[in-house]
Amino acid sequence: MKTIIEPFKIKTVEPIKPTTKEERQKILKKAHYNLFNVSAEDVLIDLLTDSGTSAMSAKQWAGLLDGDEAYAGSRSFFRFENTIRKITGFKHIIPTHQGRASERIIFSVVADKESMIPNNTHFDTTRANIEYTGAKAFDMVIKEGTEPETIHPFKGNMDIKKLEQFLKEYAPARVPLAMITVTNNSNGGQPVSMENIKETKALCKKYNTPLFIDACRFAENAYFIKMREKGYSDKTALQIAQEMFSYADGATMSLKKDAFANIGGFLALNDDDTAEKARNLLILTEGFVTYGGLAGRDLEAIAIGLEEILNEDYLKYRIRTIEYFAEKLVKIGIPILQPAGGHAIYINAAKFLSHIPKAEFPGHTLACALYEEGGVRSCEIGSVMFAENAKMELVRLAIPRRVYTQSHIDYTIEVLEEIYRKKEALRGMKITWQPKALRHFTAHFSYV
Ligand code: F0G
Repeated sequence: MKTIIEPFKIKTVEPIKPTTKEERQKILKKAHYNLFNVSAEDVLIDLLTDSGTSAMSAKQWAGLLDGDEAYAGSRSFFRFENTIRKITGFKHIIPTHQGRASERIIFSVVADKESMIPNNTHFDTTRANIEYTGAKAFDMVIKEGTEPETIHPFKGNMDIKKLEQFLKEYAPARVPLAMITVTNNSNGGQPVSMENIKETKALCKKYNTPLFIDACRFAENAYFIKMREKGYSDKTALQIAQEMFSYADGATMSLKKDAFANIGGFLALNDDDTAEKARNLLILTEGFVTYGGLAGRDLEAIAIGLEEILNEDYLKYRIRTIEYFAEKLVKIGIPILQPAGGHAIYINAAKFLSHIPKAEFPGHTLACALYEEGGVRSCEIGSVMFAENAKMELVRLAIPRRVYTQSHIDYTIEVLEEIYRKKEALRGMKITWQPKALRHFTAHFSYV
């Protein structure tokens, strides 16, 4: 059969509430045209993020009941630890309440105002946690990764030449670690090849710099390697993931993505001294070393989720869902980042709304139009989020794992097609109020 179906059936359902366009216009106005201010109840299809929004399996729900809530040495922690160790091979596995807590801890331990941290592309919380220590964060994705329509199998790759120059100049004195983010969320959920991870590791080794993986979407990355990189088609996703981690000295991960969990994270590493300092900080602000900021039941559900995510029927369906969505949009003529990444569609809003200048936030305009037209919530990743540092004007439609069916995707495509048909009528927007930092979460807007 050529149709790739959802490899699960639905046992529990959660109704979603349709609203009329007039209602949504009022809701948007009340929210000062900021989709973060809209109640989730008023959203029909919520593609704001794939983080913490997954549907858990029956086994995970059963695991919640079976979770061991002991303060110290919980059975669920050992299951969590063993599962992560099996996948990553790291010596120290430290639970945290989510990815950014792992980032805060590791950078508080290793970085100071002299430090410089390279990455293919830092996610915004990673960059913020680095900068909070006074250190500087540098993005070094390959050139193709910054070109929306250039087809390349691994657009998330690190620019090896740039990294070498950087390390030659500053490492190891000013570079306590280098990072590589798989998949590369901030440049479209694009994968990183094994060869690139290997080359990055070789350079880090040459310049005496530990390499850490930001592993949020490691399973999606492993499946892209299986599909696209020579020599991996016969390997399992688990074997590929294990090889990826074998080149690293540590990892941070938000378990809200590729662990099907609604909360959770970890920091994993091999170095004893750094691990001890990290655990001391963990106890101070997250919790004891065998639970981090999590309940025993969370640890249990995460361990189960990490086993399920490496199921290749699931990964095949997951990657195909995003590809299907992308193919249909391209056919209509809607400009998107190509090829499709692992967890989201990124619309090139600068091109979609070419009549709206960057200063009038074409991405934000499109995100509001998507909500107004069809009740679909997305997220601007452009000049609202990054101000003058924005390299592209994108709108991300992130797909929660195992939550929406093909007809939800087809509906969203129809909404986009309708907006595309009448795009000339859309007007740009302006900010009427903004906070000092992270303005995209709370700023107020109006139409120009
Ligand atoms: N690293 C990457 C690559 C991420 O995508 C995220 C979160 C984090 C770190 C931080 O993890 O949220 O658990 O603290 N990304 C979410 C998103 C928020 O919508 O892409 P967290």
